[in-house]
Amino acid sequence: MSRLIVISNRVKRPGTGAEQGGLAVALSSALRESRGIWVGWSGETTERFTGQIAFNEDSGVKTATIDLEEQDVDEYYNGYANKTLWPLFHFRIDLAEYARDFEGGYNRVNERFADTASPLIEPEDVVWVHDYHMIPLGQMLRDRGHKNRIGFFLHIPWPPTRLLVSLPHHSVLVETLFAYDVVGFHTEEWLESFRHYAEREMGGTVSGDFITVGNRTIQAVACPIGIDTQEFVAASNSEEAAIMREQVDVSMQGRSLIVGVDRLDYSKGLEERFNGYARLLKDNPECHRNVVLLQIAPPSRGEVESYQEIRATLDSLAGRLNGEYSDVDWTPIRYVNQGYPRDRLAGVYRAARIGLVTPLRDGMNLVAKEYVAAQDPEDPGVLVLSRFAGAALQLKDALLINPYSPEEMADAILKALAMPLEERKRRWRKMMDSVEQQDVIWWRTCFTGRLTGEVLNPAEAE
Ligand code: G6P
Repeated sequence: MSRLIVISNRVKRPGTGAEQGGLAVALSSALRESRGIWVGWSGETTERFTGQIAFNEDSGVKTATIDLEEQDVDEYYNGYANKTLWPLFHFRIDLAEYARDFEGGYNRVNERFADTASPLIEPEDVVWVHDYHMIPLGQMLRDRGHKNRIGFFLHIPWPPTRLLVSLPHHSVLVETLFAYDVVGFHTEEWLESFRHYAEREMGGTVSGDFITVGNRTIQAVACPIGIDTQEFVAASNSEEAAIMREQVDVSMQGRSLIVGVDRLDYSKGLEERFNGYARLLKDNPECHRNVVLLQIAPPSRGEVESYQEIRATLDSLAGRLNGEYSDVDWTPIRYVNQGYPRDRLAGVYRAARIGLVTPLRDGMNLVAKEYVAAQDPEDPGVLVLSRFAGAALQLKDALLINPYSPEEMADAILKALAMPLEERKRRWRKMMDSVEQQDVIWWRTCFTGRLTGEVLNPAEAE
């Protein structure tokens, strides 16, 4: 097994942290087995950039991190990554900001990551770069003479060409992707948009999985990420989960719980979710006192204005809705701005009759998969899922909705509340099969198999 070098903006420390995500689990085990290194930002900000690398080892996983300086964080993380690329790639050109400083900062910080990673890379290593923060990094490593197999995975949607061309210097950015050997997306839809751009904007040619532009040929694949299903099922059967479930159940007093869990982000369709729920309450007085929406939304990227705005909007919507419908002993929305450890979250998922996942665009969405994995097979809840989440292509037995339509959302909630046990079990079994088969290790193998040339077709990765 070649040594794996993972490079991403956030280095998720492995360890036993209850809040670590599936991605950290998948990459940690590969890094541990191959004795590899995880390189990225420490999450710390200093006044002046020092370039000093902090080496750590945690549960057998080596990490190499650097601090960034304030200007880096402003221009690269808050700026180009989260004010320019994130909204644009989530189809929100109305929110995208284009500033020369952002672009300059993005390239400068990517050079810094290239400087950090370069001396750590040995000729036989396989390098895997993650997400929109680091698109040009592969090219920068090539510029430093690395001939290794280098792959890139995008965890967010790839936008349609018509939108992407609104980005100044879009072709310069996209060209850098051709420095990689393999480029991965979560779904065929994002892959298709990428191919379209390569053909229309770059004069590229597509042959099977391969795309050629000029003298560079890369492999572009769709590998849907999964969760660590076994681990999540175990979490949902844990004592912590049982305690949380009991706590929620007692507070519900026999009412039906609808749950949403999302980073507080405009792409998650939280405003639309609240509006859909308001529509349900308005049109169905019989639901009053009988349902509760628990929305868990830990704040995110709070220095970016569009995040401050969505937060204010949700505060006011939740307040208005509760003011209008609450009774002395019933509050229709419980809106919580904090995150919970995985075990406890699994308990909340299990307590919920409905999992409501309504992003306006989402590369994949793992909450949908976690909700499925946490259900009691004998009495599973119903997943109501936006058709615009990457996960909708796999979880076809969810109640798929258009999140922009409050009526559709309200109807789906009503249908879920009334769904007979047999139908719930049937739908859940099919979704669980997919969540079990295409888990996070399957995903990793799907991609690294291509990167190392061991697996030629993602289907064979099963
Ligand atoms: C998305 C991105 C990840 C990112 C995560 C949390 O899932 O695809 O790359 O790490 O959001 O966002 P944050 O800005 O807090 O790292």
